[in-house]
Amino acid sequence: MANEDIGKGDKLPKQIRTNFLVIGSGIAGLSVALKLASLGKVIVLTKSKLDETNTSLAQGGIAAAWGKDDSPEQHMKDTLKVGNGLCEKDVVRKIVEYAPEAIIDLANLGVDFDRNKKTGEYDLGKEGGHTRKRVLHVGDYTGKAIQDVLIANAIKNENIELLKDHMAVDLLTQHHVKNYASKKDEKIHCWGVYAYDSPKKRVRTILSDFTILATGGAGKLYKHTTNSSIATGDGIAMAYRAGATVRDMEFIQFHPTMLFSKKVGQSFLISETLRGEGGILRLSSGEKFMSKYHELADLAPRDIVSRAIDKELKKSGEEYVYLDITHKDKDFIINRFPHIYKTCKEEGLDITQDWIPVVPSTHYTCGGVVTDEYGATDVERLYACGEVASVGLHGANRMASNSLLEGISIAQFIFEKIRTDYKKPHSFPSLPNWDDTGVFHTQEWVVISHGWKELRDFMWNYVGIVRSNSRLERANRRIFPLMEEIDAFYRKNPVKQDMLELRNLISVGELVIRSALFRKESRGLHYNEDFPNKDDKKFKVHTVIKSRGVSNEEHLE
Ligand code: FAD
Ligand code: SIN
Repeated sequence: MANEDIGKGDKLPKQIRTNFLVIGSGIAGLSVALKLASLGKVIVLTKSKLDETNTSLAQGGIAAAWGKDDSPEQHMKDTLKVGNGLCEKDVVRKIVEYAPEAIIDLANLGVDFDRNKKTGEYDLGKEGGHTRKRVLHVGDYTGKAIQDVLIANAIKNENIELLKDHMAVDLLTQHHVKNYASKKDEKIHCWGVYAYDSPKKRVRTILSDFTILATGGAGKLYKHTTNSSIATGDGIAMAYRAGATVRDMEFIQFHPTMLFSKKVGQSFLISETLRGEGGILRLSSGEKFMSKYHELADLAPRDIVSRAIDKELKKSGEEYVYLDITHKDKDFIINRFPHIYKTCKEEGLDITQDWIPVVPSTHYTCGGVVTDEYGATDVERLYACGEVASVGLHGANRMASNSLLEGISIAQFIFEKIRTDYKKPHSFPSLPNWDDTGVFHTQEWVVISHGWKELRDFMWNYVGIVRSNSRLERANRRIFPLMEEIDAFYRKNPVKQDMLELRNLISVGELVIRSALFRKESRGLHYNEDFPNKDDKKFKVHTVIKSRGVSNEEHLE
């Protein structure tokens, strides 16, 4: 790794060069980093702590056709059905066929999936949309178990450098090169990123032969979310600004069962596997209601369950419904769901005796940066993996536990592709470093905190579980002034993490609203009450948005 332009009085140089730059330390980022480390030097950037990820929060588990009664074919059928006509069938096939190997891979790295005490076979859970038991898990803290194993392996690997508290600001492309003479039909090219070192308050230039976005989703776009605070859509916004194509942004998944709490900031998920083990949704009267909405009742796909709860709450005027698992054996509940049991206990609830108050909450970003089955975007040498990407596995709705699987599978396919490509010569133009001198330091940071609140409130109220034309139009009218405001602020001020995140979230919000306005039907996660008829054939298409790319010239040396 050749380092250039050593920064004054700073351990890290201002400009760094590496073979592979991975942005994100969740399942997607660390899986791809561990594989690429066999080919060259890898830098992993992460804007917070290594384990501050949505991966760490995953509860239910990871889907793979492992049981004797199951097959990749069946896993594919279920995925396609839940995806409501918009999955890419070949991609789905490739991933579900790889799934058992992904499990072996994780087990070899050290993930100790739960086994049935009697048979010694892996214990398989069930979730919405799955017609077989196929969710491998570690208790109800599967994500944390996987995250810890991946971090331990990455730390041991001499070819991996982990840079925490470094936030990627923007991708380096032709737009950043002064007087760049483009050839006819030249594709946009990625040479790395500008990255903000938040403790040192400076922006570094990181040049890389290949850049892999693994920045996760955008749950923080909404007032209520199960997501970690890192989920601010940075990768989608950066790729879009760079000129990559994004798609299907209207398909935001709402998980039906987040623990209802009056505590501010509390957003704890009650895993769908709890319903997989017999948990029942009830109204305050005790009435079970899900069989009115779907033949799979409590295990219907998520969009159906979330909308059913939303409808029941609007009818009753109450704040939450209940999830009841009290009919199951006490020891079974405590052993199978130790994390949920403990967290609810801290909230004063004993789930072996009490019904759990739950509400739907923003959970997963199905759309994202378009990639092919090898994770390649339409920007040269830029790949995307995990929740940031739209590879075609989820379509209009993601089936539970397919997301951890996506991260690890696409990591493998990216590795296979890059392995054959990485020796091709690659040159870097002269890229300017970041320069904050001369920017105005405003005292008006209240603009940022207000922006966060306003955006998340109107996205929740107008672009939520049930949408309408007038609510979407209202959101559309509000997003543009916010965009202008943050843009002006960004140009005049030194960068800060929450400002960069808000800038990205606003950009993602605009993509979500624009896509939702485009889809004049109801499909999967996108439900518009003005178009209640499902699956209009005319709209059995992806919502594709392409930008021309923009530069950051105000901040360049
Ligand atoms: P993440 O794990 O979210 O990691 C993103 C990484 O990118 C983080 O390290 C972050 O710091 C970094 N990052 C972001 N922006 C920047 C930037 N600008 N610069 C530098 N770094 C950046 N899925 C399942 O399959 N099974 C489950 O049981 C399951 N349960 C879930 C439970 C909860 C509560 C939640 C929220 C999600 C769950 N999901 C589950 C979904 C799944 O966990 C995520 O989709 C998946 O972990 C995403 O992995 P990822 O690597 O793409 O992103
Ligand atoms: C859950 O455990 O309910 C979450 C599973 C998922 O989002 O895939």
